[in-house]
Order: sequence, then C-alpha cells, then structure tokens
Amino acid sequence: MTARAETLPIEIVPTGFALGAEIRGIDVRRKLSAEVGEALREAWKQHLVLLFRGQTGLNDEELIAFTRVFGPLQDAPNSEVTAGFGSFSDVPPEVTIISNIEVDGKQIGALGAGEADWHTDMSFIDEPPAGSCLYAIEIPPAGGNTSFTNMHRALDTLEEETVSAVKDARCVHDESLTSTGAQRQGVPPVTDVRETPGARHPVLRTHPDTGRKALFLGRRRNAWLIDFDVEESERLLDRLWTHAADESHVWEHRWREGDIVLWDNRAVMHRREPFAPTTRRLMHRTQVAGGRPY
Ligand code: OGA
Ligand code: MN
Repeated sequence: MTARAETLPIEIVPTGFALGAEIRGIDVRRKLSAEVGEALREAWKQHLVLLFRGQTGLNDEELIAFTRVFGPLQDAPNSEVTAGFGSFSDVPPEVTIISNIEVDGKQIGALGAGEADWHTDMSFIDEPPAGSCLYAIEIPPAGGNTSFTNMHRALDTLEEETVSAVKDARCVHDESLTSTGAQRQGVPPVTDVRETPGARHPVLRTHPDTGRKALFLGRRRNAWLIDFDVEESERLLDRLWTHAADESHVWEHRWREGDIVLWDNRAVMHRREPFAPTTRRLMHRTQVAGGRPY
C-alpha cells in the first residue's frame, strides 16, 4: 500500500507478479474524491495494470466517467471497430465492443474467440492511447484469460548486446492486421515488411509520467526495424518478443464478471488466450488518450 493510500478507504493489493495490483474498497460508479483519484493514478504508475473487481451493472457512461479519472479519452479508430466485421451495437464512440457474440449472423464486437497474441493497443497510429480499460460483462466458463507483461522490466533485463543493437532503432507497427490476425478492412495484405503500413515508433521509449525507459513493441507480424536488413530485423525482433513474453515479466488475469482492468500501453503488452467459440464473452473497452512515443 502506498503511503498516500493508507489514509484513504482503498486498499492496493499487488498481484505478487511482475506487474498489476487489485484495488479494493471502490465502487467506481460513485464519484471519487480528488485524493482517491490521485491515489489511483499513483498506483497505476507504480503497478501498470489495475484490477477493480465486483463492478457489475456499469453502463457505458459510467465506464467512460471512470476512465476519465486517468486522463481524457480517445475514440477507437474506425479501422479497429469495423475490421472485418459487420454491424456493431450502438455504443458511444469512446467504447469498443470486444466480443465473439453474433446477432443475426453478425459479430457485435471485435476479436472473436481466437487468440490475440502479444501486442500493444492501437500502436499503429502516431499517438497511441496511453491506456486501455476493459470491462467484463459476460465471461465464458473457461479460457479467454488475459496476460500482461512489464516492458520496463523486459528492457531492464535484456542482454546488453541486444539493447545496443536496437537502442536507436525505430519499428513499424503494423496496421494491416488486428491483434487476432484478421485483415483490417480496406488495408491490403503485407507481402514485404519494408512496406508495412503503420506508425513508426522508437523501440526504446520513455514513460512520460515516470521517465522510466521501456521496450515498445506493437505486433510481431509484419514488424520491421526501419533500415535494417530484413534478416537482421527478424532475428532481433524474434529475440525482443521472446524476451518480452518471458513469464518472469508476466501476470495472467483470470476474468470474473464485473472486473475492470486498466493497463498502461506505454509500458505493458498484453495477450488473450482463445476460448470456445460456442461460449459467450462480452467486454466493453475504453481508451485513455496518449501522445507520440519518444
Ligand atoms: C483488447 C484486447 C483482450 C481481451 O481489447 O485490446 O486485447 O481479453 N483484449 O479481450
Ligand atoms: Mn488489445
């Protein structure tokens, strides 16, 4: 528990893994005091992923209001919302539906039931969101756990040889595929990684709130270290992804209905394991706006 939180009605319980903490004693629907808001932002800086349990029955406006505690919101880009899918339910522009549920033969949300491999949300744009906030409305009986990896720690433990090879490198963050590998509508498939569409960001970034350095990776597929030989780029990227996903940096979250999980895209990658497509999973996601990585 942080010193500040000790006088407040909240409890900050670290997961015991490389990142993440559960916040207890909060009903996110109630207006939070300035002190509690400040303590939550501090806890987010320190733990990078925050879990709030038991928040069932929240509506989109309440989810949006809660997310604003951590900064102004960013709308989901159209490409994320419409990628390969038909119609989506009527939700505010700040909300993305993440679901495998179909209504009248059409998907109501993104990502289906497949695996979403390690990635950073929306990093294919120039100013990716600082955070993503995922709210669990319906959870399948098995599968669909979400894991988070601490990219500060991944950098701090990376061998010197690889650090010096990539320290000034930039990487392209593919926008052609979603995190489950589906082709985004209207974006042609990549045949040469040197032509991958998407933002180009530094491989080592600085967290704007803490000054700490982190590895910054988007998606492995179609990634390329700008101006590197493709072979050398592939070798280094394989090394970076393998190291970033090492279980010593990872916390795996097993969802319950009513969970809210907020993660810091500037210092955390995440992945979702698949689940049986015959079962239902429904999440609503908001994004905290961010700036250009440096
Ligand atoms: C996302 C995402 C993981 C999950 O919404 O960006 O990766 O558990 N979701 O659904
Ligand atoms: Mn994601």
